[in-house]
Amino acid sequence: MGDELHKHGRFFDGWSRFYRAGPIGWQLRRVQRRALERLHLAPGERVLDLGCGPGDGCALIARAGATAIGLDYSPGMIGQARAEPALTGRLTRGDAGHLPFADASFDKLVCTNSFHHYPHHLAALREMHRVLKPGGLLGLVDPRRDHLFGWAAIDLVENALFGLEEVRIFSVPHWYRMLGEAGFTLIRVEPGSRWNPAERALVFVQATA
Ligand SMILES: C[S@@+](CC[C@H](N)C(=O)[O-])C[C@H]1O[C@@H](n2cnc3c(N)ncnc32)[C@H](O)[C@@H]1O
Repeated sequence: MGDELHKHGRFFDGWSRFYRAGPIGWQLRRVQRRALERLHLAPGERVLDLGCGPGDGCALIARAGATAIGLDYSPGMIGQARAEPALTGRLTRGDAGHLPFADASFDKLVCTNSFHHYPHHLAALREMHRVLKPGGLLGLVDPRRDHLFGWAAIDLVENALFGLEEVRIFSVPHWYRMLGEAGFTLIRVEPGSRWNPAERALVFVQATA
């Protein structure tokens, strides 16, 4: 795994100790819940939480009766997720650009507030498409470039303040292009609720493999 990934891993290892604390943690969990609601999980489905962080999304997936598999690059985040007994044996450390799963092994894939950290975005989308079954559903949320808050949170705070200059966010039209190139169909990319400025700065992506 490359140096740029190690830098991001260290950033998240540090954050993992207080990830759930405060209004940012609360907002991240809220967005994750909304992304999962949109996937309409059913018992028995196999669902990958990509960039799973401290495991809250995996716990919600397991509670819906589906099988949750979590993958994250940060050992600190995976360590926090391992505290959840329902996830024993279902968490893997890895890179979104090279998923250690067979083709067509998931019914659904959720990826929240993680995608902008991946060094090779199109490669990561192609990997998501590969591991989803044909007809499988992707639900992804990420900050968007065509909104002032999205740009400020990523380009000013993460890039400039934390030195993660590789992070990249995309506008709504760019999302449509990338998802199409990665092989997805039935693509819907919507900004979050206009009544919540923190959500308006995000894109909610739904697409079919
Ligand atoms: C802001 S957290 C989001 C965690 C969780 N999905 C949520 O919504 O609360 C971003 C996560 O993406 C993970 N991540 C960043 N780059 C990654 C990569 N290349 N492969 C896998 N995970 C990655 C980080 O380690 C971190 O846990």
